[in-house]
Amino acid sequence: MSQTVLILLGAPGAGKGTQATRLAESRRLPHISTGDLFRLNLTQGTELGKQASKFMDQGRLVPDSLVIDMLFDRVSQDDCSSGYLLDGFPRTVAQAEALQERLGGGEALVVIDLQVPDHLIVERIVGRLSCPECGAIFHTSFNPPVKPGTCDSCQAALTQRADDTAEVVQTRLSAYYEQTAPVADFYRQSCGVCVVDGTNLPDEVFKACQECVTEAAA
Ligand code: AP5
Ligand code: MG
Ligand code: ZN
Repeated sequence: MSQTVLILLGAPGAGKGTQATRLAESRRLPHISTGDLFRLNLTQGTELGKQASKFMDQGRLVPDSLVIDMLFDRVSQDDCSSGYLLDGFPRTVAQAEALQERLGGGEALVVIDLQVPDHLIVERIVGRLSCPECGAIFHTSFNPPVKPGTCDSCQAALTQRADDTAEVVQTRLSAYYEQTAPVADFYRQSCGVCVVDGTNLPDEVFKACQECVTEAAA
């Protein structure tokens, strides 16, 4: 196998970013989050960032054409030559088909679906704090920083994402059920999907994700 490609599926707030950071480190794969790439573009003031933020702020998906080009550009970089971990991509069946075509079948593909019920999602999203500098993720109750409002890793001031409101999360959840849930069916019919209960403690969720990867390699 030339490449290992890990895909983390799951609703907004399911814990993709939290687990992706740990999995990427343990598997030595670059962590690629399309949401983080758009936010980086916005911080840098690019046209792509400005266009994407119009959709993101409303909780709607960014059009496939903008996402796919950006993602393919990223995975063609040198650090992705032996594989990568995708967090938040693919999010539509069209994105999954485009990726499938690009990969070509010679890779080890592991798809993990993190499942968390809606009522927990809202609580997680509304209480999330993100580090704008290093990307670390916290929660006011579930994973509070040692010093309130300050990142444990880099000491930057923590912020709330513009789309992390109780109102916008409802649109994000609708987009998830309408457009992203079918992506799990797409993979169920091809390589299979490893379902992980995302309601457990982060350490337990991580262990279950690790098992998905180990089983796929066996
Ligand atoms: P994106 O940034 O990907 O956001 P998302 O999918 O909505 O997911 P989140 O980042 O909100 O949640 P997460 O699953 O990473 O959870 P986290 O680990 O942070 O996308 C944002 C937007 O960009 C989209 O709405 C769309 O507009 C656009 N976009 C991006 N990719 C796109 C694509 N491919 N196509 C089209 N548009 C795209 O955890 C959440 C909180 O819960 C944290 O506070 C964390 O501390 C806490 N937590 C995590 N795990 C646990 C646990 N086990 N127990 C208790 N609390 C936990
Ligand atoms: Mg995330
Ligand atoms: Zn930080």
